[in-house]
Amino acid sequence: MRPKIISSFLQSALGRCSNWKGHVGSLACSVGRVGTTGHPLRHCHTINGDPPRILITGGLGQLGTGLAKLLRSKYGVENVILSDIVKPSKEVVSQGPYVFANILDFKCLQEIVVTYRIDWLIHFSALLSAIGEQNVPLAIRVNIEGLHNIMELSKQYNLRVFVPSTIGAFGPTSPRNPTPNLTIQRPRTIYGVSKVHGELLGEYYNHRFGLDFRCLRFPGVISSDTQPGGGTTDYAVQIFHDAIQGRHFECYLRPNSRLPMMYIDDCLRALWEMLVAPEEQLRCRTYNVTAMSFCPEEIVTAVRNHFPNLQVSYRPDSRQDIADTWPEVFDDSEARNDWGWHHSYDLEAMCNIMFDNLRRQHNMT
Ligand code: SER
Repeated sequence: MRPKIISSFLQSALGRCSNWKGHVGSLACSVGRVGTTGHPLRHCHTINGDPPRILITGGLGQLGTGLAKLLRSKYGVENVILSDIVKPSKEVVSQGPYVFANILDFKCLQEIVVTYRIDWLIHFSALLSAIGEQNVPLAIRVNIEGLHNIMELSKQYNLRVFVPSTIGAFGPTSPRNPTPNLTIQRPRTIYGVSKVHGELLGEYYNHRFGLDFRCLRFPGVISSDTQPGGGTTDYAVQIFHDAIQGRHFECYLRPNSRLPMMYIDDCLRALWEMLVAPEEQLRCRTYNVTAMSFCPEEIVTAVRNHFPNLQVSYRPDSRQDIADTWPEVFDDSEARNDWGWHHSYDLEAMCNIMFDNLRRQHNMT
């Protein structure tokens, strides 16, 4: 059943498509190859001598355009296909290939994988935690049925597939400080349930069919150029926009509600590093990654170093109930040990770069 009104966030979440080609071709590293753009390919992971061709689903959400930019700089503009069901801006289409992809339509996905000779699939389409609770049937379709298409497609076309998971894959019975890589996972949101399902299904396809499934559990991601939509961690993005525009910041979490967080550049770099890690380095297929943990009163203090007059009030809502069941501190030591994960941005560095970016966006420099 289609809802009558689908916000652009939901539309973005609905966009999807997948594929992988995995280890059929030999995956090698070479320096100085030239991509289709004519730029030398840095960190070129080739498949039978060619750069991988990569499809990103749900590409107009918080992470897609940033990831496309990163991957295009490494593998060539034409080799990274961004997709969604949302009408793109002029800017998006000027940056590289963009196609319509509905992840609930298996044939549509097959067509894209075949036409564009896709090797790797990054599957971003999903409804986040808070919005998922508002429309559970839609979240089941997008997050679970859509994923089934992605997994089958990836198996059929031998694609390497990356699916993000989340701190939301844990629940009230999980240890919260710290939350280890392998522990109890009994989430209480449909978002969390769908992500645990994705982790397990991906690991099963890897074990049973040799699918090159890769998954990172991300914390709250903070970015300046695209807005996240419908998440529980979004307050930590909103505060920057309110501060720079001189608005009062009303926080829907309590001042001491601690959650793991990460700046988007760290998030995208983690994704790429795990995506290209040699298989022998991956002792598991799903890893926690994080950069920092803070609560609202701590980010308020950090933001007030830039905007001392920021006015703040607290009005916890249903998102507080979700946050109360999530990790406070994420243990990502396995990612750090196995494939060398390290973060670059702590709270202070993140505030500096967020305000630099936002000042530029608002022509305040
Ligand atoms: N940012 C997500 C959310 O809040 C967590 O993965 O739903």
